[in-house]
Amino acid sequence: MTFLVTGATGRAGRHVVRQLLSEGHPVRALTRDPERAAAVLPAGAEIVRGDLTDPRTARQALQGVVGVHLLTVGGDDYATLRTGPELAALAEEAGVARVAVLWNGQSGPVEEAFLAGSLETTLLQPTDFMGNTLGWAAAIGSRAGVSEPFGDVPIAVVHEGDVGAVSARVLADGGHGGRAYPLTGPEPLTPRQRLATIAEVVGRDLAFDELTEEQAKQRWREAGHAEELVEILAAWQGDPPAEARTVSPFVAQLTGREPRSFEQWVRDHAVQFQPAP
Ligand SMILES: NC(=O)c1ccc[n+]([C@@H]2O[C@H](COP(=O)([O-])OP(=O)(O)OC[C@H]3O[C@@H](n4cnc5c(N)ncnc54)[C@H](OP(=O)(O)O)[C@@H]3O)[C@@H](O)[C@H]2O)c1
Repeated sequence: MTFLVTGATGRAGRHVVRQLLSEGHPVRALTRDPERAAAVLPAGAEIVRGDLTDPRTARQALQGVVGVHLLTVGGDDYATLRTGPELAALAEEAGVARVAVLWNGQSGPVEEAFLAGSLETTLLQPTDFMGNTLGWAAAIGSRAGVSEPFGDVPIAVVHEGDVGAVSARVLADGGHGGRAYPLTGPEPLTPRQRLATIAEVVGRDLAFDELTEEQAKQRWREAGHAEELVEILAAWQGDPPAEARTVSPFVAQLTGREPRSFEQWVRDHAVQFQPAP
């Protein structure tokens, strides 16, 4: 049973790769840059070049594959992938059995095309990844504080390793077709509370400066995010839907263990929140 992991070099995808390999499954990792991918992926993964915005480049990678872990954004600006219909057609043609689709906060062309097709399709609907907090590391290192919007709005952030573990179960076990799984961590936390957890774990005083929504949008634009993502981020972080604030049972149900805490995530990354030299 070979599995194709897209976004294999990304936050969640690399956990899918590791989990499937650790269970003895052959894993093919799709990347736009095989040389860079080889430096970050485990030796056991077969690395293939492909770009989801140009589906023909993924045709070969889909051959002989039973399950696909699939992104819904593409390119360095995180734009919504418009190539869902072509990707679904290629996957069906190649005889793929099932797909775990990593939703991006709202339904788009990839989800719609796969749900309308004949493959066993499961939507993974994670809240914000704990790993996004690495975006705070430079500011915490250099000026012992962060400037962020929506400081008092809670989201039940999820460990990207738990998202990867759920995807591996869905793909390897099958039987989850037609299901949508909201995925969260064990508790809703505001950005201020997350910063306080980092401060406690690393033993530093850290300051939280609140940005306005407009300042945050400007910063996301300057970071190169597509305008549609800027709007999704502002809506999601400023007024999260109930499922982003409500702890979901699915990490525990599908993996057989409780979702990892934010404190655990910080302990695993504490070295990245030390003062800059
Ligand atoms: N981050 C979050 O909080 C969050 C929350 C909910 C859902 N998600 C979803 O999770 C998925 C991954 O997000 P992430 O934050 O983990 O991203 P990430 O860590 O920044 O990784 C992005 C990945 O996408 C791949 N990629 C980008 N454009 C591509 C293209 N045109 N063709 C093939 N691969 C491409 C990159 O691979 P190469 O550079 O190796 O080609 C990389 O592995 C997305 O679908 C996103 O919507 C993320």
